[in-house]
Amino acid sequence: MTPTFQDLFHQAPAIEAQAPGRVNLLGEHTDYNDGFVLPTVIPQTTTVQLGPSDDSQHHFYSASLNESVNLSPTTNPSEGFGRYVIGCLRLIEQRGIQIPPLNIWIASSIPIGAGLSSSAALEIAVLRGLRSLLALDFNDVDLAQIAQQAEHQYAGVKCGIMDQMAVSLADAQHLLFLDTRTLQHQRIPIPTGAEILVLDSGISRALAGSGYNQRRSECEAASQRLGLTALRDLTNPAQLDSLPPLLQRRARHGFTENQRVLVAKRGLSAVEFGQLMNASHTSLRDDYEVSVAGLDCLVDLLQHTPGVFGARLTGAGFGGACVALVAAGEAQAIATSVLNQYEQQGFQGQLLVPPTSA
Ligand code: GLA
Repeated sequence: MTPTFQDLFHQAPAIEAQAPGRVNLLGEHTDYNDGFVLPTVIPQTTTVQLGPSDDSQHHFYSASLNESVNLSPTTNPSEGFGRYVIGCLRLIEQRGIQIPPLNIWIASSIPIGAGLSSSAALEIAVLRGLRSLLALDFNDVDLAQIAQQAEHQYAGVKCGIMDQMAVSLADAQHLLFLDTRTLQHQRIPIPTGAEILVLDSGISRALAGSGYNQRRSECEAASQRLGLTALRDLTNPAQLDSLPPLLQRRARHGFTENQRVLVAKRGLSAVEFGQLMNASHTSLRDDYEVSVAGLDCLVDLLQHTPGVFGARLTGAGFGGACVALVAAGEAQAIATSVLNQYEQQGFQGQLLVPPTSA
C-alpha cells in the first residue's frame, strides 16, 4: 500500500495542488526556434500535497516511484525527481521569498518517459502548491517561466517553453496556440467531431537527450548562417537554398512546421487538421530525422485506419508516443485495432489517451 502524506509525516497536508500532462498536436521542435505550437492537456495529472516539515529538512516522497529524498535546506540533489522539486524551490527563493522546510508528497498518473511532460507537470504542480501555501503573487505564465528555468538549471535539459506553458495554461476543451517568442497565446477549439488519441510506441526515448540538443544546435547554426535571430524569422523558403543539405532539411522543417501551426490556428475541419498532422510526421521523419521505425510503423497504421483524420509522433521523438486526431467516440476501437496490428509487426504499444478507467 502506498503511504499517504499522513502516514509519512504524521499530519494532514496544508495544501494540495495538481497539474496535467500535455500532448502536442502540431508545432514540434519549433519552440526553441521562437516558433509556434499547438498543444493541449491530457486527463492524466500529477498531484502534490505540501505542508511545513517539523525538523529542519525538506522531505519529498514520490508515490509513483516509491522514492524519498531528504535534504538540508541548502543541498540540491544531483539526480532523480528531487531535482525538479528543488529547482522550483530554489528559483522561488532566488526571487527573495523565504521557503520553510517542507514535506512534499507526490503522486502521478502521467506515464514517465512517453513524451507527455511528466516533468513539467511535476514542476507546475509544485509551483501551484507553493503559490497557494505562501500566497505568492505569480500568474500562470510566471509559473511556466520558473518551471522552464528549473528544467534548464536543475535538471540540465535545455528545453523550449511549450511544455510548461501548456501544462500551466491549457485546458482539455481547447488547443493552446502559443507564440513561443512573445508568449502570446489563444485557446482554439478542438476540430468539431474529433477527439484525441495517444498511443505509446513502447520504444524508449534512448536518444532524446543527445539528439534533442544536437537538433537545437543545428537550428542555431542554420539561423546564424541565414543571418536570422531564430528560425522563426525565416519568411522566404528560397533562402534555404543557401544552406548545406543537412541544415537545409532542419530549417525546412522549422519553416513548414510553423506554417502548419499558423494555418491550423485559423480553425480547420478535422479532415484538414489531420492532413497537417500527417505532413508534420513526414517532415519530422525526413527533414528533422527524429522518428524511429516503431513510431513510423504506428503512425502508418493509424493513418491507414478508418476514422483517423491524421497522426504523427508527438514530443521530442526518438521513441515515446504518437498522437492522432480521430472521429469522436471511436478512439477506443481504433486503439484496439491499431495496437493489434502493431503487435503483429513485432512491437508492443499501449493506449494512453483516452485513459482506460482503472
Ligand atoms: C520536448 C521539449 C519541448 C519541445 C519538444 C519538441 O518536449 O521539452 O520544449 O521542444 O520536445 O517539440
